[in-house]
Amino acid sequence: MRPAELIRFKQSGRAITMLTAWDALSAALVEEAGADVVLVGDSLAMVVLGHATTLPVTLEQMLHHSQAVCRGLSKPLAQQPLVVCDLPFLSYQCGLDRAVAAAGTILKESDAAAVKLEGGEPEVVAVVERLVRMGIPVMGHLGLTPQAVHRLGYQRQASDPRSQDKLHRQAQALQDAGCFSLVVEHIPGELAGRLRRHLSIPVIGIGAGADCDGQVSVTADLLGLTPSQPPFTTARMQGRELSITALKSWLKEQRDQGATPTTPPPPQAPDC
Ligand code: KIV
Repeated sequence: MRPAELIRFKQSGRAITMLTAWDALSAALVEEAGADVVLVGDSLAMVVLGHATTLPVTLEQMLHHSQAVCRGLSKPLAQQPLVVCDLPFLSYQCGLDRAVAAAGTILKESDAAAVKLEGGEPEVVAVVERLVRMGIPVMGHLGLTPQAVHRLGYQRQASDPRSQDKLHRQAQALQDAGCFSLVVEHIPGELAGRLRRHLSIPVIGIGAGADCDGQVSVTADLLGLTPSQPPFTTARMQGRELSITALKSWLKEQRDQGATPTTPPPPQAPDC
């Protein structure tokens, strides 16, 4: 699947589905389930690596996980989902050349075909423009942008008309700069719907209501594996409880079987 295909999906009214994966195991599940796009999200910093925010994850770690995700896909290439990898914090904020090197490394050293980056400030728009000109497809991300947690927190964004107008302008600027799609996270559904109708690129929502061209979800949240759930995702199974129950039953079985007692060897006479 190529990035441009998502634009055709929007034109034909086919809903786009995107799920996160962080390793070969989760990628295989997401591919088998039939997602159009696999996102190697920097949420792996929190979900998998145990960090409190997404900020600490490095480019090297994102690359490592992107490689694992790509290795986990097994369908013929043309039928595989599109793999998009998040650019981590500080890999695209320190100059255009460094951003090209970071995004290029992801595409060069893993089979991801696009990158995602957060924000719509003019500096970010300039990065998008440069990456796209260098042949690197870019997915934008507006609204709740976890890399800006220390400025914005995790609450719903764009609640008042002024910030909604700003987000709308940023979305337009990202499209004009060449983004092939846009994730909008935790914003009012009415605003997401307006963006969907106004933009020619697909608007993919998470906590942004149903009036989007597609939806994205963090797979570990959907499977009920994460200890704390975001307010906009309902787990489809209690994965954490089910896993713990399965593990406990195996542990109990082993303990119930008991181990064969070993008779300690007789004490050896000292050599001297
Ligand atoms: O990192 C991530 O998982 C994401 C999704 C929430 C869209 O960016």
